[in-house]
Amino acid sequence: MRRFLVAGNWKMHGSLEMTAELISGISRSVLEMASLSEQRELAYDILVCPPAVYLQHAVSAAQSQPVAIGAQNVNAHDSGAYTGEIALPMLAELGCDYVLLGHSERRELFLETDVQIADKFAACVAEPQRITPVLCVGETLDERKQGATEQVVGRQLDAVLNQVGIQQMKNAVIAYEPVWAIGTGETASPEQAQEVHAFIRARLAEHDAEIAASMRILYGGSVKADNAELLFAQPDIDGGLIGGAALKVESFVGICRAAQKLASQA
Ligand code: 13P
Repeated sequence: MRRFLVAGNWKMHGSLEMTAELISGISRSVLEMASLSEQRELAYDILVCPPAVYLQHAVSAAQSQPVAIGAQNVNAHDSGAYTGEIALPMLAELGCDYVLLGHSERRELFLETDVQIADKFAACVAEPQRITPVLCVGETLDERKQGATEQVVGRQLDAVLNQVGIQQMKNAVIAYEPVWAIGTGETASPEQAQEVHAFIRARLAEHDAEIAASMRILYGGSVKADNAELLFAQPDIDGGLIGGAALKVESFVGICRAAQKLASQA
């Protein structure tokens, strides 16, 4: 049984004050919601990914709270002359549990390649695994219009799969984020998203059906409190990677509510 994961990507937003307030506000609300639910406990996982300079503050704020902390990027090397970069052992030392890899903004604006992303992924899952990677994949509007969605997502996935192998994928999370749905208010329909999620799972299953069935695949792109339930209800959608709506307690908790509700029906 896969547990839903509701993840917030704060991108380059926030402040020290907001970091503490958002994490404590989310924790308070989701625990209260859970205590009133049928299960009487949190039936899904929560992750927030603030900017790197706030990670330590976020880890402190999340102590004893039901919120895991993740970074938005990492360098593939453990140390060295890489000015401005942050290494995995540093994130692990801080207490980060997750790291986003290959977000479309990193691919597009910072020209990260499939190979670089695969190298970062390999560094995350090298034994003993230090941090759980959240591998982001997704097509642009042009690529979708050309009917190349599966080709693009397949290529992005294969770049990692071929480098690390399916056994090393099993402790990772995948996030399908169609670029045309990010920050646009235009969400993929539940059917459109499900179609790509099923494709991703089938691609993983070609290597190992059991691992494919156990992996969480999140949807990202204009997820809001009012569309989360329909998206998360799809058989291959295991939660969301949330941008804009992750910056306010109410909107993020509204999305968490959908996860709690669906988990109770499962
Ligand atoms: P929005 O939810 O703002 O569309 O952003 C999605 C995203 O990029 C999360 O990583």
